[in-house]
Amino acid sequence: MAVQINPSILSADFSRLAEEAKAVEGADWLHVDVMDNHFVPNLTLGVPVVESLAKASETPLDCHLMIEEPDRWAPAYVEAGAGSVTFHAEAAAAPVRLAREIRAKGGRASMALKPATPIEPYEDLLPELDMLLVMTVEPGFGGQAFLDIMLPKIRRTRELISKHGLELWLQVDGGVSASTIERCAEAGADVFVAGSAVYGTDDPAAAVRSLRNQATETIAAAGWACGH
Ligand code: DX5
Ligand code: ZN
Repeated sequence: MAVQINPSILSADFSRLAEEAKAVEGADWLHVDVMDNHFVPNLTLGVPVVESLAKASETPLDCHLMIEEPDRWAPAYVEAGAGSVTFHAEAAAAPVRLAREIRAKGGRASMALKPATPIEPYEDLLPELDMLLVMTVEPGFGGQAFLDIMLPKIRRTRELISKHGLELWLQVDGGVSASTIERCAEAGADVFVAGSAVYGTDDPAAAVRSLRNQATETIAAAGWACGH
């Protein structure tokens, strides 16, 4: 495995989700942003839409839950057909138990950190996870400017993954585009969410290919080994 590019359907046309999923064939995962209007000030979609999209899309679903009480709701997204489920560290009451439950149901377990949440308190939890998401904007909306101040956290997370010899994927989400993806890749990310940079173009599939090439070349030059 190498670099992974996950287009975010938050920037797609919600009235044509199946077609929008097909428009990015060749992408590794379809990133689905679930927002509950409590954890973030925005409301998107829930389990029934994920269930329908999982049937309609050949690309597996990477569900990013920006919701309160993920301990209660996250397992249902695996049952609905999501291949990967990300809950927020700030919202989870028992992240270890939740990650184990997601894995027991056959999903990949992932945890996200908002910009102000440090990685260090979670070092011992990393073996429980399949992916760690470092948010590079405050969650809630697509099209925001990339936060360069998150690059040191990406770098420190990559160091922890190497230190413990983990197979953990390191995802970045928010403001990832042709002009920022190389900074993320150089710092240690290997899974890239892109919403407006993919669906905001005339040719989303070409945007995915181009982002993949940029990240792949940067990682090869940076010299840290992709963990997957
Ligand atoms: C923001 C979401 C992102 C969003 C990214 O809270 O988690 O997945 O869709 O959109 P862009 O790539 O436009 O910043
Ligand atoms: Zn997201």
